Amino acid sequence: MRDNDLFRRFPNIPMMRDAARRRLPRFAFEYLDGGAGTDTGIDRNWHALDAVEIVPRYGVCTALPPVDAELFGRRYAGPVGVAPMGSPSICFPGADRMLAAAAQAARLPYTLSAVGGMTIEEAAAVAPDVFWFQLPRLSLDGHRIGLDMARRAQAAGAHALILTTDTPVRTTRPREVHSGVTTPFRVDLRMMASIIGAPSWLLAMRRHGVPRFASFRQYAPNAGLAEMAEFVGRQTPGAFSWDEVALFRDHWKGPLLVKGILHPRDAERALAIGCDGIVVSNHGGRQVDALPPPVDVLPAIVRAVNGRATVLMDSGVRSGTDIVRAVALGADAVLMGKCFLWSIGALGERGPEHAMDLLLGEARASLGQVGALTLSEARAAEVRHPGAYAFE
Ligand SMILES: Cc1cc2nc3c(=O)[nH]c(=O)nc-3n(C[C@H](O)[C@H](O)[C@H](O)COP(=O)(O)O)c2cc1C
Repeated sequence: MRDNDLFRRFPNIPMMRDAARRRLPRFAFEYLDGGAGTDTGIDRNWHALDAVEIVPRYGVCTALPPVDAELFGRRYAGPVGVAPMGSPSICFPGADRMLAAAAQAARLPYTLSAVGGMTIEEAAAVAPDVFWFQLPRLSLDGHRIGLDMARRAQAAGAHALILTTDTPVRTTRPREVHSGVTTPFRVDLRMMASIIGAPSWLLAMRRHGVPRFASFRQYAPNAGLAEMAEFVGRQTPGAFSWDEVALFRDHWKGPLLVKGILHPRDAERALAIGCDGIVVSNHGGRQVDALPPPVDVLPAIVRAVNGRATVLMDSGVRSGTDIVRAVALGADAVLMGKCFLWSIGALGERGPEHAMDLLLGEARASLGQVGALTLSEARAAEVRHPGAYAFE
């Protein structure tokens, strides 16, 4: 049941972003919202999606169409899931659990990041039906920790494993740096001043404690916060090579996805190794701001994949209309990161549930407006896409 009061206060996601900016401590908002360089990658992601037009056909659709979607043999309430996010608890303490619980209630995929604030086992308990897991490259000692985390995720019932390949080097996000966020997370005097102006953040901190790398605890049981951050930093050099993806293909029995694909040849590479899906992504504009918007490379990648694997897309999706744009261009579903954290910034624990309700409602309305009775019918729509890459 839609909460009409919430709907009147926040009828779209960007309004929640504005509220999050006002309500969160400055460092928390800058951590979640800031991009690489001068944020031009984030802007370009938004503008590229905005530029996609879908020509409607009338006389067919007379009611809101359904948007439920099947991904890797499971049915979800819509073609949208929560993207993996490391340390979302800096944005709002307890955020991992709030996202997982809302996704479980809404029946949408929830992806826990290996560097998130909940353990693999906790995430599986909170979101048993929708739990996916994401790994960065944890390559020391022959991938000891990475392979063990994959084993734990499999034992806990994670339905899909995502390997992130788009972080070959460490880059900086200037707004985050300037606001004082460090690894390990430490609250200095300046940050303390901004926390005082954000009572809901302070209360959440008292309830959930400081952000931590929960899934790593058992590999360094005696490490304090600083040592743990250093330990995790040492474990995560670079990003997966294709041989390493193949190693995980041998170990992981369920659906395997590679995240961060922007070139059709890399998509083909992932398929040749036996991956079941790819995530077309530029990490939400957080790595380097010269990367193309995923929506602009999506059609060429969809052509290259040619139905042989599931194609997800993320980076810049802010509405149900954006979800329909991505689907019309061939994506099976999208993931979303910042939007869900904005919703927590605006509304605390109630935020993700409201965001998910908004997104599914908008997606149904946009689908109906363009005259598609199902998601797959949207793929047949006439689309103008000025930024589309051709590739040689
Ligand atoms: C706070 C934050 C932390 C993130 N941490 C990770 C991570 O640990 N692993 C990963 O693969 N992607 C990470 N990402 C990227 C997201 O998975 C996703 O690709 C991106 O947020 C999508 O763009 P959007 O924020 O515009 O929706 C992170 C994003 C944010 C906002």
